[in-house]
Amino acid sequence: RSGPVKLEPMTLAQVERAAEFLLAGELVGLPTETVYGLAARGDDAGAIERIFLAKGRPRTNPLILHVADVNDVPQFFTKELDSVVQRRLDCLSTLWPGPMTLIGPKRETVLDAVTAGGATVAIRVPDHPLARAVLRRMKELAGEVIPVAAPSANVSNYVSPTTAEHVRQGLGDRIAMVLDGGACRVGVESTIVHLGSSEDPPSVLRSGFFGVETIVQRIDSAELAGQVVVQSATSAAQSEDQPAAAPGQFAKHYSPQTQLVLLPPGDRSPIPDDTLRIVFEPVEGSRSGSSNPRLLNRSLPNAGLADTRLSNADRVNTDLAGENLWTFAEDGTLETAASNLYAVLRKADATRFHRIEVVACEESGIGVAILDRLRRAAHA
Ligand code: TXA
Ligand code: MG
Repeated sequence: RSGPVKLEPMTLAQVERAAEFLLAGELVGLPTETVYGLAARGDDAGAIERIFLAKGRPRTNPLILHVADVNDVPQFFTKELDSVVQRRLDCLSTLWPGPMTLIGPKRETVLDAVTAGGATVAIRVPDHPLARAVLRRMKELAGEVIPVAAPSANVSNYVSPTTAEHVRQGLGDRIAMVLDGGACRVGVESTIVHLGSSEDPPSVLRSGFFGVETIVQRIDSAELAGQVVVQSATSAAQSEDQPAAAPGQFAKHYSPQTQLVLLPPGDRSPIPDDTLRIVFEPVEGSRSGSSNPRLLNRSLPNAGLADTRLSNADRVNTDLAGENLWTFAEDGTLETAASNLYAVLRKADATRFHRIEVVACEESGIGVAILDRLRRAAHA
């Protein structure tokens, strides 16, 4: 997690600009540890409307509100939270700042445009030094907590953005600025947990960096009654063009333009001519036979700084145009794969190949979130 960070004067100036644009009701591309957000003042109906217009997002799909500190969260939920819901909130709050979103009963003051008219609101405390700096600065300038609504900063249904450049490519002409925070560390969207009610157990609506095990463990350690329910990724059959009965559960989402096919783990079939295959293992000595030693040398170091990763992610494609076997993670870890997932899919979408095949990873840890996104991306 990011502790207090000293920001360079140049960066501070950009943070200041972003805070001012946001306070003025403008749209800003905002880096978070998961993906870039398309940010707007969450208490300004006009600004919220601009989010839906810019993304082409159906107004039936509610937005997440972001705040700087865990202490800022309670003022967006109802004053008198049910005691069991309060306890779930308390024990899960310990994962903040971080890649988790909590849904609970909303306070009257939360705009209908944010919740799509619903009675619940989704809140997150992001763990990114620039996101937090902007949120804090807005609080300072306004003298009160200003929530920032931010869906992922992609055109609705397309692959989510994990670099400032991704945001510019998709939405550059519709936003006041992008705050460049390098490549996102986590790379897949936050884990979404509905806090439930006195009658209903908590439920995981979207997998992410924190797996169900982590959520269950936190809740169990507080000895809270009620099992955690997990929504199946494939249970929903709507598309984002139709009103969402269960928001956030679109079967088709995160999709490149190029047809994407998910192959079973361990698939070693020959790669068809017009196809780019992407795997999760290091590619040198690959089982497919199309080994490419350059990929191993050129692809991403795991733990480096965000900026390093950005340039490396870019290099994967540049150096390999024409090659038909890529990896999401040269070090073979699912954390690296998640961090590179969207950048690699975007690069793949820009090649001459007519088909992208992804050989599935194992479905555990962050692999659950990765496969959830890939299944939706592959949904016809
Ligand atoms: O990591 C993230 O969560 C990123 C960064 C920018 O914070 N944001 C993000 O937002 O992924 P978005 O809008 O792309 O996805 C939010 C999901 C949507 O699927 C929405 O339907 C769901 O959260 N959601 C929001 N409010 C909800 C609510 N009150 N009840 C149920 N689902 C909700
Ligand atoms: Mg999204």
